[in-house]
Amino acid sequence: MKLSTKHLLGIKHLTTEDIQLILSTATQFKEVLQRPVKKVPSLRDITIVNLFYENSTRTRMSFELAERRLSADVLNFAASSSSAAKGETLLDTVNNILSMKVDLVVMRHSASGAPHFLAKHIPAAIVNAGDGINEHPTQALLDAFSMQEKLGQLAGLKVAIIGDIMHSRVAMSNMYLLQKMGAEVMVAGPPTLIPKYISEAFGVKVEYNLKKALQWCDVANVLRIQLERQNQPLFSSLREYSLAYGINRRLLDSLGKEIVIMHPGPINRGVELDSDVADGSSSIILNQVENGVAVRMAVLYLIANREN
Ligand code: NCD
Repeated sequence: MKLSTKHLLGIKHLTTEDIQLILSTATQFKEVLQRPVKKVPSLRDITIVNLFYENSTRTRMSFELAERRLSADVLNFAASSSSAAKGETLLDTVNNILSMKVDLVVMRHSASGAPHFLAKHIPAAIVNAGDGINEHPTQALLDAFSMQEKLGQLAGLKVAIIGDIMHSRVAMSNMYLLQKMGAEVMVAGPPTLIPKYISEAFGVKVEYNLKKALQWCDVANVLRIQLERQNQPLFSSLREYSLAYGINRRLLDSLGKEIVIMHPGPINRGVELDSDVADGSSSIILNQVENGVAVRMAVLYLIANREN
């Protein structure tokens, strides 16, 4: 089976069959990653560039590890230490890299739509590793993989995405993916951090009361306040945010049921999650990170295979 699309620009463009194919391929790669020899020759003749125009820890390392586990040749590009700082355009940078015979571009950029722009202008396949406030497709895929692994199936699952919905590409990709796969989605947080027409536009539930959101859901996917994307104050202080929307053990214990806690990282401990929750038995945060490698291996393998 092959993906219906040449690039992975967003979950918006994937079919449910594409998503199922990526998740089942990731299951096979996760099995490979449990072996003493974790490397397979699948992408031996493929060269991949990781083009990171924005800071990243997990996503960049996870992509690089996935590429190396598949035996691809890997080039790393960080905008801060490159000629982008000397005024070179994105398209010039990429065309120069492609002339070195690169097959696949993994790209993170602070501008929404940057990978879509590139896809129109270059022949290589592109995997979006997060574009502005638009999408972060591989994060949603690894979130889905982790939910499925923990709870069995996505269909019928109740997932609350909590926090700074307005500035979150993780929220966007999760909303698309979970609904395509038959899960129910609620977004929760302060009214100033939730877009006004989100319910009409995306068919998600909206809840401003944290406890009610937690009482409703099976899984809480908790987000960081993306201060770097806010150019005006949208709440009075982090302390106040934490009082109204921070999740602590006491609150979880008061629900009278078990829910699963997720977070894409980086966590701001003591703001959206207390340490006893982030590191507690309900949390699958480190499983998400582990699964990220298998999921990205699946994405890269399927995209590269479609090309051949
Ligand atoms: C997220 C991102 O960069 O979009 N992190 C990640 O990729 N794991 C979320 C965030 O920065 O808060």
